[in-house]
Amino acid sequence: MNQSNLSRRNFLKASALVGMGASLTGVTTMAAPVEPSKGDMSKGKISATRPRPTGQKPVNELTTKPLDKVRVAIIGLHRGLTHVVSCLGIEFAEVVAVCDIVDDRAKHAADLCEKKYGKRPAIYSGDEHVWEQMVAREDLDAVYIATPWAWHVPMCLRSMELGKHAFVEVAAALTVDDCWQLVDTSERTQRHCVMLENCCYGENELFVLNLARQGVFGQLTHAECAYLHDLRTVLFALGTEGDWRRNYHWEYNGNLYPTHGLGPVAQYLGVGRGDQFKYLVSMSSQEMSLTHYRNAHQPNGGRHAHEKYICGDMNTSLLKTEMGRTIMLQHDVVSPRPYSRINALYGTGAVFFDYPARLSVDEPKPYGLEAEGSEDWLSPKDMQIMREKFTHPLWKKLEERAKGGGHGGMDFVMSWRLLDCLRRGATPDSVVYDAAAWSCIIETSVHSVAHGSAPVVIPDFTRGLWKTMKPLGIAEA
Ligand SMILES: NC(=O)c1ccc[n+]([C@@H]2O[C@H](COP(=O)([O-])OP(=O)(O)OC[C@H]3O[C@@H](n4cnc5c(N)ncnc54)[C@H](O)[C@@H]3O)[C@@H](O)[C@H]2O)c1
Repeated sequence: MNQSNLSRRNFLKASALVGMGASLTGVTTMAAPVEPSKGDMSKGKISATRPRPTGQKPVNELTTKPLDKVRVAIIGLHRGLTHVVSCLGIEFAEVVAVCDIVDDRAKHAADLCEKKYGKRPAIYSGDEHVWEQMVAREDLDAVYIATPWAWHVPMCLRSMELGKHAFVEVAAALTVDDCWQLVDTSERTQRHCVMLENCCYGENELFVLNLARQGVFGQLTHAECAYLHDLRTVLFALGTEGDWRRNYHWEYNGNLYPTHGLGPVAQYLGVGRGDQFKYLVSMSSQEMSLTHYRNAHQPNGGRHAHEKYICGDMNTSLLKTEMGRTIMLQHDVVSPRPYSRINALYGTGAVFFDYPARLSVDEPKPYGLEAEGSEDWLSPKDMQIMREKFTHPLWKKLEERAKGGGHGGMDFVMSWRLLDCLRRGATPDSVVYDAAAWSCIIETSVHSVAHGSAPVVIPDFTRGLWKTMKPLGIAEA
């Protein structure tokens, strides 16, 4: 059985899991709430790649029929409401249908659409399987999937099987097996499966991508990235992520949310297009902060008192690429600290660190900067010069329209770009191989942690295509 089935079944009866814990490797720590995972991970092996089934074609250059309007449906209307709002602001998009188990959420989304279009989209609500009827509609091009993690893979697979492109929230899948299912289904159906990694479209991320593409960093050597976000309150919030996200903290010990940090960095380095992840080693600190917070605050009347969390507060992974570069990737959602994705890039010609944005360049003069060298970060004046020269054209084009949109505008920029690619029939900036490569860090990190930080191979979902795949078009947008 694959993890999506396991997870869906088990997470929906989360209350039965309280007080139990098991690791993803199948090494049981207490009475196991889920069957030990089957296949490579329980045997301590993750294979470097898998042969492409006969008859399947790669999707790295998949182009599709151009469309006048891109007709979308959206499942999961909490985070998904942001996608509804973005689509309503895009003249070549039409929200045809909305879906949530919760009637009021679906109705609210439909109200927004009605206000914009003067007509109501179809509403699907009240049942956890009603989405299956929605994705079977004939009048749909793409389905946004913004549901809890356990639903991502089944919703993607069915959408693609029924001829729709799947746009799935982060992470696309939890296990290597499920990542392969996404890859194989995308190839077999020739539908896109794009992970909605909005952080690839942040102003700073696009700036760094453009700097890298324009050669300012010289030869790239190293990157650092993370998801450092104090989610302690959210993890216990009922009616939203607290209903399901905390469960992973008693099931897995590793990086539970790798893609916000890793996606942009992978694009800077051209991972999947000229370079490729090779292996990682991963280490977790002890678990402390979630237990401490739960004990101190007794959230929801103390009903979580028996939960035993196993996910270490800070997980640090080191990834090695085929070209010899290194990436430091961290995950911490329980320490009391301000938000950061680190977002750092090193090259022979420059170094960038985010939070706040800082840049140093080895040879400042050719850029007309006042700086003497790279010992100090560029002054605000020099930084402004670099911003003027290297702000990404996509950001410049959409900045005004993105204002007020989710996450500093990057949610709008992402949807605009993705739907524009689909409208033109062009290959999107990231495809299923990227979704799989960035998401599989969940299982590979858990696996490494469980085996004394042993090196774990990161599968090559492109099956060797990375050597010849062209760079992203995004920098030329
Ligand atoms: N990219 C980002 O910045 C970002 C931000 C927040 C959340 N997310 C991701 O978005 C996803 C959803 O997160 P959230 O915070 O909205 O979670 P949530 O639990 O608050 O909301 C999920 C919604 O999905 C609905 N739902 C659940 N199962 C369903 C089903 N079978 N059919 C129809 N509706 C169903 C729920 O009723 C709920 O309204 C997660 O994957 C999360 O990681 C991404």
